[in-house]
Amino acid sequence: MLYSEKVMEHFTNPRNVGEIPDADGVGEVGNAKCGDIMKMYLKIDNGIVTDCKFKTFGCGAAIATSSAATEMIKGQPIETVMKLTNKAVIDSLDGLPAQKLHCSVLAEQAVKAALSDYYTKNGIDPAPILGEIGECAHCAQ
Ligand code: FES
Repeated sequence: MLYSEKVMEHFTNPRNVGEIPDADGVGEVGNAKCGDIMKMYLKIDNGIVTDCKFKTFGCGAAIATSSAATEMIKGQPIETVMKLTNKAVIDSLDGLPAQKLHCSVLAEQAVKAALSDYYTKNGIDPAPILGEIGECAHCAQ
């Protein structure tokens, strides 16, 4: 099978889908090539991510990695959340097919963009640096 059971489970039953109207940090990232977009909302209290929700307009792997990422960061201090990597998200899902690895970068980038927004709003320096999002090779899925 192309996807692991965990990926399929997150895809069919994604956690933390939605919006947080009074979020402390909101990040939106997109992949210019495939047009997939991910929006991440963070509620932060006392340096802890107390709630997070996401909206992903994208492929199954993008949805599954967003869902897994929200589970990984909820309840964590922002210093830990800042270190979230797409590799950690992939590992938590027992891997992704090679051609879908780039989709997981969206989740990492969306979380960091939301943190960056929080940092900027609160005058905390430096804001997280966002890297390049890899090219999307499988837009049709
Ligand atoms: Fe574009 Fe997965 S993020 S195909």
